[in-house]
Amino acid sequence: MKIAVIGTGYVGLVTGTCFAEVGIDVTCIDIDQKKIDNLHQGILPIYEPGLEEMVTRNVEKGRLHFSTDLTEAIKDCDVAFIAVGTPPGEDGSADLKYVLAVARGIGEHMSSYGVIVTKSTVPVGTAAKVRAEIEKALAKRGTDASAIEFDVASNPEFLKEGAAIDDFLKPDRIVVGIASDRAEEVMRRLYKPFLLNGHPIIFMDIPSAEMTKYAANAMLATKISFMNDVANLCEIMGADVNMVRRGIGSDARIGTKFIYPGIGYGGSCFPKDVKALIKTAQENGYDMQVLRAVEGVNENQKSVLFNKLSQHFGGELRGLKIAVWGLSFKPKTDDMREAPSLVIIEKLLAAGCIVMAYDPVAMPEARHSLGDTITYAKDEFEALIDADALLVVTEWPDFRAPNFEVVGRLMKQKNIFDGRNIYDASELKDIGFVYHCIGIKT
Ligand code: UGA
Repeated sequence: MKIAVIGTGYVGLVTGTCFAEVGIDVTCIDIDQKKIDNLHQGILPIYEPGLEEMVTRNVEKGRLHFSTDLTEAIKDCDVAFIAVGTPPGEDGSADLKYVLAVARGIGEHMSSYGVIVTKSTVPVGTAAKVRAEIEKALAKRGTDASAIEFDVASNPEFLKEGAAIDDFLKPDRIVVGIASDRAEEVMRRLYKPFLLNGHPIIFMDIPSAEMTKYAANAMLATKISFMNDVANLCEIMGADVNMVRRGIGSDARIGTKFIYPGIGYGGSCFPKDVKALIKTAQENGYDMQVLRAVEGVNENQKSVLFNKLSQHFGGELRGLKIAVWGLSFKPKTDDMREAPSLVIIEKLLAAGCIVMAYDPVAMPEARHSLGDTITYAKDEFEALIDADALLVVTEWPDFRAPNFEVVGRLMKQKNIFDGRNIYDASELKDIGFVYHCIGIKT
């Protein structure tokens, strides 16, 4: 089989590389020449554990190629994945201009039957627009080209940043929206190597597949906001959210995963997809009330840690030195998009604090938005020197069990505000720390 993946962003690059890993001939296309040049040299545009080695290995094996030339890649490929960005427009709806431009390009160059698959997260109805765009481009080429048969399909991606390779190679399910038996057959053949662990490939109609992606992310975002609400109430009522979490998680209908309270969800997916689904519903005369509340809770939650700090210091924050551990929206990624750290730091700076931050990988990325407004430490301990408080913002493994004796010695005041509940409250109290976390009155 021969496939093309258009767009070498997060999803495209992981998709292309993982298909190559099982022996499929893959060409990854991007219009950004610099990105393609870098990829040829093994320089990746994103940080993802294990991806760099996998790219290099598959390039060396001659089954993973990078190019800016859509024409060659599309000519006789069996499947073309559209994995370009769908940035949110001003009103929150997903902007499809890149997706449709790629569809047009495919129509201009395809020469035989192929399945054109939308992999980017796209609103319900997009595959139909892709089909129309390709048909238009084929028709422009004349009668021979108009006779070329093709199918469109929707194959949403469920991988998580930081665990993308494992998620792709060992998926718990693959969802494919199709409109013909022929497309189903091609997609089943393509995914066969990934289904060895017995997990299913679920075929459905195209609009349902498109909706599945949004519904999945919206449900997960809802779980988090619900738990953040519960955590805030636990604090008020003197309950411990960690115990409540264990108590409810053991009910298999609720489950133990994704019920960790924190400082709000971030990243490029939940915020964008929740917004887009609310917007799609609105445009169609329906009000997604639950999701609007999910968004509201999430916005408030980003301020919770700052509010605790402010309360502790009686609102007198000017001139305080604050250490921040973690900047990325979650561990194992350098992604700073919609990271709660940005909101927290903005508030700290506005209140006149001096911020010294450390993140194991996201500091170069963070510099793009924060510039020199904060100081970047060379390690987690340097960030603590003379600090009046430590804010734990991202739960990187590096921060889980620091030497608290050293931590206490470096800090001016032993105050820890833990936005991810990674420490033991009584242990820290015993060694003289003031400790605040989420959903537990300390
Ligand atoms: C999310 C989904 O989990 C993937 O299935 C989906 O494919 C992806 O979006 C996408 O649409 O591309 P991702 O954004 O990489 O993946 O990150 P998650 O691990 O889901 O975390 C999202 C946010 O939720 C993070 O800010 C994290 O800190 C927060 N979170 C997660 C919590 O606050 N509590 C939890 O219990 C779990």
